[in-house]
Amino acid sequence: MRVVILGSGRGSNAAAILAAQQSGALGRARVVQIFSDQPAAGILALGARFGVPASFVDPAPFKTKLEGEGETRFIAAVRDAQADLVVLAGFMRVLKPGFLNAFAGKIINLHPSLLPSFPGLDGIGQAWRRRVKITGCTVHYVTPEVDGGPILDQTAVCIEAGDTLESLTEKIHAAEHALLPVVIARLSESR
Ligand code: GAR
Repeated sequence: MRVVILGSGRGSNAAAILAAQQSGALGRARVVQIFSDQPAAGILALGARFGVPASFVDPAPFKTKLEGEGETRFIAAVRDAQADLVVLAGFMRVLKPGFLNAFAGKIINLHPSLLPSFPGLDGIGQAWRRRVKITGCTVHYVTPEVDGGPILDQTAVCIEAGDTLESLTEKIHAAEHALLPVVIARLSESR
């Protein structure tokens, strides 16, 4: 199963996927390409570290969504990589029907809350400010409804006395790093 990772940030989840691949824990999945919409994103540096092609794709003209020419460029890039699975690992743009239909049923997203609670931006901060006792992370299929697609798996994280927003953030990231490679491996085995 050929996996393409899209990300906008530091890429700690992409690194967890690639580390799982190196240790033989990614099932029949293989990361073939990393693309970012941010030219200076840390995720692009993982390419050299793990020996996987990584490149910036220009997302213009929009700032928060992928539509128009940028969408066309991303569709062409992911098609060229012959992706069987597109993994959004911190890709901070809303996908529109053009991209979603081009890879229907093949796009999964990682979100830092227990969906359907706290969709959208800053899922960790939203949960923290609402003072819930349990939050976590979710991997789900991507549909036109933002953070609304069918859930593949979740990990719950408890907010305990003494936690801070920083310690909660660390716990959720650790949960994400464990969960996402397992979901990808499971999808690759069930194809
Ligand atoms: C992750 O926490 C992921 O859940 C979040 O971005 C972070 C990316 O971190 N995604 C979203 O908030 C999507 N709505 P990373 O670049 O270190 O993998």
